[in-house]
Amino acid sequence: MKVIRAKDYADMSRKAAAVIAAQIIMKPDCVLGLATGSTPIGTYEDLVKQYEAGELDFSQVTSVNLDEYKGLSPENDQSYRYFMNDHLFNHVNIDKAKTNVPDGLEKDADKACADYDAIIASVHGIDLQLLGLGHNGHIGFNEPADSFSKGTNCVSLTKSTIDANKRFFASEADVPTQAYTMGCASIMGAKKILLVVSGRDKAGILKEVICGPVTPRVPASILQLHPDVTVIADEDALSEI
Ligand code: GLP
Repeated sequence: MKVIRAKDYADMSRKAAAVIAAQIIMKPDCVLGLATGSTPIGTYEDLVKQYEAGELDFSQVTSVNLDEYKGLSPENDQSYRYFMNDHLFNHVNIDKAKTNVPDGLEKDADKACADYDAIIASVHGIDLQLLGLGHNGHIGFNEPADSFSKGTNCVSLTKSTIDANKRFFASEADVPTQAYTMGCASIMGAKKILLVVSGRDKAGILKEVICGPVTPRVPASILQLHPDVTVIADEDALSEI
C-alpha cells in the first residue's frame, strides 16, 4: 500500500482528483469504479472544475459504482444514482448510458446481483476503483462478516452504518436497511485502487485497515493483499499511525 499524507480534506480531494484525472488522460476509454459518501464529494468537485477548464474529457469513460440502497429509485435524492448524477455525471460529458449503478428498485435480490455482476464482467476490468471507508471498515457496503464477499451481494446494513448515514435522511426510519454492493473480490479485481479517508473519526479504523491483520471483520483490510493500492488520507485520519 502506498500511503499519501494530505494536509486536510481539500488537499486530499485535490490529490485524489489528480490520480483520477491522470487515469482519464492516460486512457481516455478507461473504466472507473466510483464511490459515494461524503468523502469523495470534494474529489468530484475538483474533477468537474478540471472538466470545465477543458482539461478533462469523459466522453469515452465507462463507470461502475460500488453500491445502491435497495428500494430507492434513481429519482430519490438519497439514492446513490441521484448522488452520482448530482455530484459528477450531470456536470461532465460522460455518456450516461455508460454509467452503471446497481438497480435499487429490483426487488429480486438474486436477479439484481446477477445483473450487476454481468455488467461488471461486460466492462472487462476496472482500471481504477475509488473507495471511501466506513467507520467499521466497510468498503462499498461490504459490512464486517465471517468471510469476504465475492460478487455483488445484498447486505443488511449494520446499526453503525445506519447511524452514520441517517444524517442524510429526514428520519432514521427512512434509512433503507438493505443495499446491493459490489463484492470484495470484484473490488480486488480492479487494476488500481484509490482509497480516500478524511477526519479524526476514521483514524482508528484506518490504522486497523493499514496496520492490522487482514480479516473480514475489517473488510477494507483485504486491500493489503492488492498489488496497487494508494491511500490518500488527511492528517486527522492518519493521526493514529
Ligand atoms: C457509505 C457508502 C460507502 C462509503 C461510506 C463512508 O456507507 N456505501 O461506499 O465509503 O458510506 O461514507 P463517508 O465518506 O460519508 O464517511
